[in-house]
Amino acid sequence: MKMKRLTIISCLLLLGIMNSSFAQAKKEKPLYKDANAPVEKRINDLVSRMTLEEKVYQLNQVLVGNNDNPNNVGEAVKKVPAEIGSLIYFGYDPVFRNSVQRHAMEESRLGIPILFGYDVIHGFRTIYPISLGQACSWNPELVKRSCSVAAQEARISGVDWTFSPMIDVARDPRWGRVAEGYGEDPYTNAVFAVASVQGYQGTDLSNTKNIAACLKHYVGYGASEGGRDYTYSEISKQTLWNTYLPPFEAGVKAGAATLMSAFNDISGVPASSNHYTLTEVLKDKWKHDGFVVSDWDAVKQLIRQGVAGSKKEATLKAFQAGVEMDMNDRYYLQSLAELVNEGAIPIEKINDAVGRVLRVKFRLGLFDNPYIPVKAEDKRYLLPENLKTVEKLVEESIVLLKNEKNTLPLSTKSRLAVIGPMAKNKEHLLGSWSAHGKAEDVVSIYEGLESEFKNMKLLYAEGCDFDGNDTSKFAEATKVAQGADAILVCLGEKKTWSGENGSRTLSLPQIQENLLLELKKLGKPIVLILSNGRPLELNRIEPASDAIVEIWQPGVNGGRPVAGILSGRINPSGKLAMTFPYSAEQIPIYYNMRQSARKNKGGYQDIPNNPRYEFTYGLSYTTFKYGELKASQLKIKHGDKLVVEIPVTNTGIRDGAETVHWFISDPVCSITRPIKELKFFEKQVIKAGETKIFRFEVDLDRDFSYVDETGKRVLESGDYFISVKENNIIVELVN
Ligand code: GLC
Repeated sequence: MKMKRLTIISCLLLLGIMNSSFAQAKKEKPLYKDANAPVEKRINDLVSRMTLEEKVYQLNQVLVGNNDNPNNVGEAVKKVPAEIGSLIYFGYDPVFRNSVQRHAMEESRLGIPILFGYDVIHGFRTIYPISLGQACSWNPELVKRSCSVAAQEARISGVDWTFSPMIDVARDPRWGRVAEGYGEDPYTNAVFAVASVQGYQGTDLSNTKNIAACLKHYVGYGASEGGRDYTYSEISKQTLWNTYLPPFEAGVKAGAATLMSAFNDISGVPASSNHYTLTEVLKDKWKHDGFVVSDWDAVKQLIRQGVAGSKKEATLKAFQAGVEMDMNDRYYLQSLAELVNEGAIPIEKINDAVGRVLRVKFRLGLFDNPYIPVKAEDKRYLLPENLKTVEKLVEESIVLLKNEKNTLPLSTKSRLAVIGPMAKNKEHLLGSWSAHGKAEDVVSIYEGLESEFKNMKLLYAEGCDFDGNDTSKFAEATKVAQGADAILVCLGEKKTWSGENGSRTLSLPQIQENLLLELKKLGKPIVLILSNGRPLELNRIEPASDAIVEIWQPGVNGGRPVAGILSGRINPSGKLAMTFPYSAEQIPIYYNMRQSARKNKGGYQDIPNNPRYEFTYGLSYTTFKYGELKASQLKIKHGDKLVVEIPVTNTGIRDGAETVHWFISDPVCSITRPIKELKFFEKQVIKAGETKIFRFEVDLDRDFSYVDETGKRVLESGDYFISVKENNIIVELVN
């Protein structure tokens, strides 16, 4: 009996202890750590617990990992302040990344996870075409799937946040960063902004296959004057709203978690201290609830740009404008607290900024799931199904620019000379911002030909280097070419000749052009393959080429799609998302310019006024015939539904994919408008002899209106032209 009583008492005692420790634990487990609590409650709870110093840390991003090899993990980890808000993580080692995260979770007072960011621009390890090439595919679904591949590889490697997509409308191909965006058109950049955000973020950021996106560079960076980088951009409010903001508005509406403020000076107010764009537009008008990170040292650069006289003033200007997180220069780390303490910055503003950063972290699930599984690299990268996805994107991004005398497809019985610095190169096919892409992963053009043309005799010579003036290998190249039936000349740009701080003229180095001209003397068919990060000037080599294939910088799966197009296995379907000027002297030249006030006047006297290749230009191995444009009604009023259709027939002997681009023009308006504006596009495969109907469901407010300088959409009555190639139809909008 006694024993029984003793047992009951000890059980009760144990229960009591458990209860109190549970209650204790319950008491100690703060709301912000409760995975079931609503995010906004968790944010408020956490912010209320934070000191000013801890808040300031959350508004800073520094670097880790680029030179931390495994045996000094301890050192690197200790160097990182446990309270830091974000790191740019240059590594991809889950063990190292988890050790840094554990440092934050367990060695800081509140255990706030670090947000690891990195430039995953067109792939993490499975590199796919540069964005300018992606745009030429006119296939947003494929871009979305490729971004999803990048997100999976990034997240499983410790990166939760990419500084992508870059959606800067750009019209000056001398600017190296045209490679990173989706070309010259606002609507095109908007469509691919949405596709990228959906690909990166999926439908649930806490899913560990997804990462947070970052719309950049906000805003107007593509207007950098003279195509030079880090410079001035003259942008009127009207142009800001009609040209540069639309892709960002689309990306924000698609749920982009973050934006990055740009380097450029917007008509006297730098993008990174521009209250109008960063707060009045982004936060007040578009209600963005994520955060803005500055571009690298962009806060510090406000001093050189001349709007701040000190570190403190630069910090004040950027923060007050609406930049929540400071990348790399540590200005916020050094000056924010002081500015708060002296009353220059209200603590409510700090709390709002911190709340925005925490919101992204909570949505990513980092508080509840801060660590990543440790998987071997071959289980993370270059997976077969992912390689297939990106190979399809390469196929559709390639643009056939010229094909005289049906030089292409090549007959497989011929002997082909493969000449040029790009023929066997792998590194430069990766393009700029190639993250953890490795040259060894790349299928070169030559390797692609080897696997495609089993019975073809391939003859090879490098011919010359990418630049310099060493013509000593010309003779060998000529000799090799003499033994061939056709000559494939593979030329282009190094990956560093575009991208950031990559402004150049549009010409290929003379040595490359001279090699092609030397080979032309042999009188054999010349097929020019171009791999480059910008539209080029082709005046000297276009006439000497019987066919020209623009492959951009295709990434790991470069060679096979190129070879597939040369053999005819693939019918090229790419079309230009950016104009190829006749020459740099024409710049700026782009499809949606205003027209001259005088018909056929005002152009140049001594060079052509048309570009070499216009926006949406691209050839196919088949031919398409466009039928009659039909509208559901020719007189419409506000609120009406307008549907326009056009039949397209494949009049050739082989199947092909065709993209139909729908433009609108508003010939009479209270402001001048571009000659035409792209408002919709659709790509369909059409079998030989088949006809497909392409439909454009016009939303009058969205598609016919313009945005005035206050950001208001204005829809005026009157005639509107809807056009597809040279076909157009007039509809009248009545009051
Ligand atoms: C660079 C680029 C920006 C990039 C950032 C981080 O300067 O301008 O696009 O995301 O710094 O690397």
